[in-house]
Amino acid sequence: MCGIVGYIGTQEAKEILISGLERLEYRGYDSAGIATVSEGRLNCVKAKGKLYNLREKLEQTVDNAQIGIGHTRWATHGKPEVHNAHPHLDSYLKVAVVQNGIIENYRELREELKSKGIGFNSETDTEVIPHLISQYLADSNISLLEAVQKTIPHLEGAFAIAVISADNPYELIVARQQAPLTLGFGQGEFFCASDITALVPHTHAVLTLENGEMARLTPLGVEIYTFAGERVSRFPRTLDWNPGQVEKQGFRHYMRKEIYEQPGVVRSSLETYLNPNWKLEENPDFSPINLGFSEQLYDNIDFIQILACGTSWHASLIGKYLLEQVAGVITSVDYASEYRYSPKPVIPHTLIVGVTQSGETADTIAALEMEKARREKLDSKYHAKLLAITNRTESTIGQLCDRIIDTQAGIEIGVAATKTFVAQVMGFYFLALDLAYRRRSLSNERIDSIITGLRSLPDKMEKILETQEDAIEELAHEFVKETEDFIFVGRGINFPIALEGALKLKEISYIHAEGYPAGEMKHGPIALLDSEVPVVAIAMPGSVYEKVISNAQEAKARDARLIGVTSVNAEEAGLTFDDVLNVPEVEELLSPILAVIPLQLLSYHIAAIKGLDVDQPRNLAKSVTVE
Ligand code: G6P
Repeated sequence: MCGIVGYIGTQEAKEILISGLERLEYRGYDSAGIATVSEGRLNCVKAKGKLYNLREKLEQTVDNAQIGIGHTRWATHGKPEVHNAHPHLDSYLKVAVVQNGIIENYRELREELKSKGIGFNSETDTEVIPHLISQYLADSNISLLEAVQKTIPHLEGAFAIAVISADNPYELIVARQQAPLTLGFGQGEFFCASDITALVPHTHAVLTLENGEMARLTPLGVEIYTFAGERVSRFPRTLDWNPGQVEKQGFRHYMRKEIYEQPGVVRSSLETYLNPNWKLEENPDFSPINLGFSEQLYDNIDFIQILACGTSWHASLIGKYLLEQVAGVITSVDYASEYRYSPKPVIPHTLIVGVTQSGETADTIAALEMEKARREKLDSKYHAKLLAITNRTESTIGQLCDRIIDTQAGIEIGVAATKTFVAQVMGFYFLALDLAYRRRSLSNERIDSIITGLRSLPDKMEKILETQEDAIEELAHEFVKETEDFIFVGRGINFPIALEGALKLKEISYIHAEGYPAGEMKHGPIALLDSEVPVVAIAMPGSVYEKVISNAQEAKARDARLIGVTSVNAEEAGLTFDDVLNVPEVEELLSPILAVIPLQLLSYHIAAIKGLDVDQPRNLAKSVTVE
């Protein structure tokens, strides 16, 4: 949550900061602000609400400063008002700080500072930081770097900060403790940001700070230190990023662009992870899947524990289905936020899988760290084998886990996840098939037929986009005025698709929606049904098709408008459904990848027709770096 940026160099800082914040706005958009230093003074401008409010305010100011910091906020402590917007300043208006994270002991620090006569202007946890730094600067003749170094041991929690001071116009200090922070290296100019998306327009040379590290950025270079003050020698790496990935490229919204990127993402993951030399007729003695994991990883896996949040949790539920049904390994999926405080008793030979598109979700990271730490104290058979499924390999989860499945989805900007979900599910197909091959839980013939099915997915996904979107948009018009509730039902491997369909609708259209296993409808949700509550049934031919159709009939008998996501022909579908979202035929095991697309489009069009902010829905953030 929250995004921070910083700049020091030879250009005007203001525009660089604001355009950096635009690329970080997906992290929070309750308020924004920047602070710069020129002529020995701090200039600080803040605005409530989205970034364009700040931009408007800044247009009325002249600011040629070449150093500055900026922040876009997702409110945690204190309402989204201007006085709580970052940067926060000390009482002498000399030190400015932006922070992403939470200072957990801010109350005690605040009381301590108040008892020394210091007044506060906000309710935030962050404001203690500039006051503490300012005290150190006042007490002794020390540098800004040293003052920040002395302040950090007082701070408890997860945070990333950037600090400037009116008296040090050639110094930008940053520090990282369990919240993301990356440095960018230009020619005589240096940057910092919560995410590399804000850096790519300026430089591809980046260095991600590690926990417990801080840095001093000057126009001459970057020095990295541990919190204890030891100099660290590290070098930037070069990103092979295309800034176009973070542009809308003619689409009205990022979300629709990202829905359209899905066939390409699946193609790219197939190219990356399917072994082209694996030919059934040659009776190969190597895995058809090329994840690059050694036998050692797979030796003795008795149990798989998956940890995730939000949409990644839904992808993980499909993962569990695949790992159990395809690979035959008992698998559990938990919300990371719950698991942190009620972990399972440890089971030996466990593979721990963290699934996250941002790679930064605080709960997922903390749950993985906790699991790793508690297992390390035990006999080696209990030690965690950690695997990350993510599209952000450079992120915190990438640093934490020894093994990564890079889902090949690239950056996703729309807050509601679409292509990253599909990419994570693909990651699970590869993992399950690799395990299935090595454990001989499926015959080579069966594995080969699943792979053939996977290869056919991108074309089928494109067909849905080409042939269904107009009809879905037309249907969406019918739900924008009076519909207040939606129910989504599915079974088996498509139950998580019902959850995901409901989540997408809630997130961006603000219509209440519930996803339910179709067979459970009669145990409660059926009481909600009448002609005002549409029911979407995911009815893909396969082991539970007839069951889903029966459950759908039960809803129809209660006057619900029935929408079916199915591949059966129009005549058969018309017998049950009032409206049909058609997808191409595909075997049941692979159907979630197709079934989710009409649901993404339906939510998208309902929200777009309502004129809502599809890419940045209220109260949400793309990267949830607070607990
Ligand atoms: C936020 C986002 C969701 C995402 C969830 C988990 O709530 O709005 O789209 O699914 O976080 O994020 P992660 O980065 O861990 O996948």
